[in-house]
Amino acid sequence: MRVGVLTGGGDCPGLNAVIRALTLALLQRVPGVQVLGIERGFLGLIEGHLRALDAATVRGLVDEGGTILGTHNRANPFDYQGRDASAEAMAVARREGLEALVAIGGDGTLTLAARFAALGLPVVGVPKTIDNDIEGNERSFGFDSAVAVVADALTRLRTTAASHRRVMVVETMGRDAGWIALEGGLAGGADAILIPERPWRLEALAAHLHQRMDAQGHALVCVAEGARLDDGDQHWQALPDGVARLGGVGQALVQALGARWPEVEVRATVLGHLQRGGSPTAFDRVLSTRFGVAAAEAVERGEFGHTVALQGDRCVLVPLSTVAGQNRRVPPNHELVRCAQALGALPG
Ligand code: F6P
Repeated sequence: MRVGVLTGGGDCPGLNAVIRALTLALLQRVPGVQVLGIERGFLGLIEGHLRALDAATVRGLVDEGGTILGTHNRANPFDYQGRDASAEAMAVARREGLEALVAIGGDGTLTLAARFAALGLPVVGVPKTIDNDIEGNERSFGFDSAVAVVADALTRLRTTAASHRRVMVVETMGRDAGWIALEGGLAGGADAILIPERPWRLEALAAHLHQRMDAQGHALVCVAEGARLDDGDQHWQALPDGVARLGGVGQALVQALGARWPEVEVRATVLGHLQRGGSPTAFDRVLSTRFGVAAAEAVERGEFGHTVALQGDRCVLVPLSTVAGQNRRVPPNHELVRCAQALGALPG
């Protein structure tokens, strides 16, 4: 049996740990199996860039950040350089004799995986994203590592905030979901947490921060990149590659708060790709390993068209069709929302 594996979308701590666990579990459980790594996500499937993975290739990867296969977050075979290249990708899969494809990625990759499954490719998905926003999955690997970076940043910025009597704003990633800002903000003791799912008013935030400044002489704000000021639009950055990315709400807060409150210095730090880099936390190493083994077991059993997922701390299989195109956002009554409310960290 020949099994292909690819990593698609943004890089994320734990990708290599999944590749390692999947490969080692397949080699142990499926007699005669050959594991082929597909390079740079679906681009490698279109262009036919594959290489053999064995135990020696993957040993020692449990704690290594990034992905040894490389990745790509713009290679959509169904819309590739202005044409549909899915037939080329299917031809490569046939030529390479792939009897299974394990696609490790976020909502974009899993949506593409669902489309290939519908074309008849035997696919198993593995949910990856620091954003933690994959439908049907309570925890994606990479998220815990990103939260640890946010918590550490807030802890470090607190000393500057306290020493200079400043308001320090930390802008996190997360796209349209506020999970990173919410958990990172709680872990780092933020005085205010602003997430896209929960409307808030600038006036209320300013009053809240005033009160915190009076009480403790400084304040920390954790804002998700997808959050809006009042009822305004999300903040986007135009980059030279022509693709707009979310970003800039932290600086917008500096301006808006500074205009209302000139006597207090407000400063912003954008954590950006620091949240995706480096070694995974112990939690993410274990979750990645569980997902890799669960994907190998699904391949062994011939259960295709699904993604592995974590539900109630158990690895389960969820149909790719129910995950495709979905975005799991923070529910308004989530327990963590209630926690943040109880601490007064969610100004209205
Ligand atoms: O989906 C993961 C993520 O890191 C988002 O949180 C962020 O908005 C986006 O990817 C950034 O993508 P890029 O690496 O293309 O700038």
